[in-house]
Amino acid sequence: MKIAIGSDHAGFELKEKIRSLVIRLGHEVQDMGCYSMESVDYPVQGCEVAKAVASGQYERGILICGTGIGMSIVANRISCIRAALCHDIFTARMSREHNDSNILCMGGRVIGPGLAEEITKIWLKTPFKGGRHERRICMIDSQDNC
Ligand code: RB5
Repeated sequence: MKIAIGSDHAGFELKEKIRSLVIRLGHEVQDMGCYSMESVDYPVQGCEVAKAVASGQYERGILICGTGIGMSIVANRISCIRAALCHDIFTARMSREHNDSNILCMGGRVIGPGLAEEITKIWLKTPFKGGRHERRICMIDSQDNC
């Protein structure tokens, strides 16, 4: 898959680890910054990744800030984005099966790299279940311009 990834300074270290993992898993990854631990404003990278996914240029996105909250708020403002803030395996899997999440958000100050890597692996490989969940996604999209 083509994956866009981004973070702010608080998510930078975890973003670097997750970027390497996603490449090792065989995906094509576009890093949209930031590129150091120097302070930046998370809406910049959040918007860039969300718009790149919404445009169809990338199938999925991964966004990391300190808590994951700011990134998920920003990303979900963009039409057609279903960003899921996940800090455990169960919600990562369910966000794919039931919500067809297209952006995974995590907090670099909340979880360690080991758990974040497991969450990312599950999120990347779990398919959307469709069926009744498809109808619900359509209900969300009908409020939007998807
Ligand atoms: C940056 O200090 C922090 O506010 C940001 O990374 C994020 O946690 C916001 O939601």
